[in-house]
Amino acid sequence: MKNVLVIGSTGQIGSELTMKIRGLHPEGNVVAGYIPGAEPKGILLESGPAELADVRNAAQLAAIVDKYHIDTIYNLAALLSAVAERKPLLAWDIQMNGLLNILEVAREKGCAVFTPSSIGSFGPETPHVDTPQDTIQRPRSMYGVTKVATELLSDYYFHKYGVDTRAVRFPGLISNVTLPGGGTTDYAVEIYYAAVKGEEFVCPIAAGTYMDMMYMPDALKAAVDLMEADPSKLIHRNAFNIAAMSFDPEILRAKIQEYYPDFKMRYEVDPVRQAIADSWPDKMDDSCARAEWGWAPTYGLDEMTRDMIACLKKKFGIA
Ligand code: SER
Repeated sequence: MKNVLVIGSTGQIGSELTMKIRGLHPEGNVVAGYIPGAEPKGILLESGPAELADVRNAAQLAAIVDKYHIDTIYNLAALLSAVAERKPLLAWDIQMNGLLNILEVAREKGCAVFTPSSIGSFGPETPHVDTPQDTIQRPRSMYGVTKVATELLSDYYFHKYGVDTRAVRFPGLISNVTLPGGGTTDYAVEIYYAAVKGEEFVCPIAAGTYMDMMYMPDALKAAVDLMEADPSKLIHRNAFNIAAMSFDPEILRAKIQEYYPDFKMRYEVDPVRQAIADSWPDKMDDSCARAEWGWAPTYGLDEMTRDMIACLKKKFGIA
């Protein structure tokens, strides 16, 4: 992995993953792919090349791969779960037609491809505790439908054409550089912003709703480590369960109150997000990722909370 195209480079994951890969491969071309209205700015723009890369435009993707001799594509273009319920056709177009364009370009030009899956690829019939790597999925959200199909199509291109596709099933990702947009797990990011700014938090997810969560540095490490893993060790490909922590809003509130004893949270449950959250695992079993490519998280809830609060205080200039 040397010349890399990150599609969706200005999103929650892309804005940090692009910078991490540029740091790891200063000799390579690490292209920040973006769509109109989501142009890279600041350090992301100044530290390397940037190109318009709309997944729905196969010719545009092929031209970037040729121009920069791209060997690896990180495909982070997606509508998250709650937005995808509002715009299911657009979600399908980006997540499925877009993926097909990427896989075709990868097949023709010999690129490896990482297209993340998610806890959203599971559904109500999935075992919710210690969710196995290989189990019933059958999600009911459009986001989940596209994520299961992403896993299957990525595996299809590997088995049929030898395209080096690999992926993880990300938990809810908590970060402090770029906000997520329209996901079910966003509350676990927004709650930290509210606490640090001294605001009350209105939680859209009910008490007692457990979901897998992960701090962004671990998510970036997973994406890079998997793409650099020895392929002969991989029994699975699309996509590996990876886990770091599991909590409900009450546990998160209590943790934040260790730092901000006056922090206040009340509930206004959003029925769309709650139905999605109820259908997702409480806690995944990630033993296959651990065994096949050495996955292990660094951050638990304590370490993450300490770092999130320190980073957000810095970001907002709060002493
Ligand atoms: N964080 C995503 C969402 O909530 C799940 O992968 O939609």
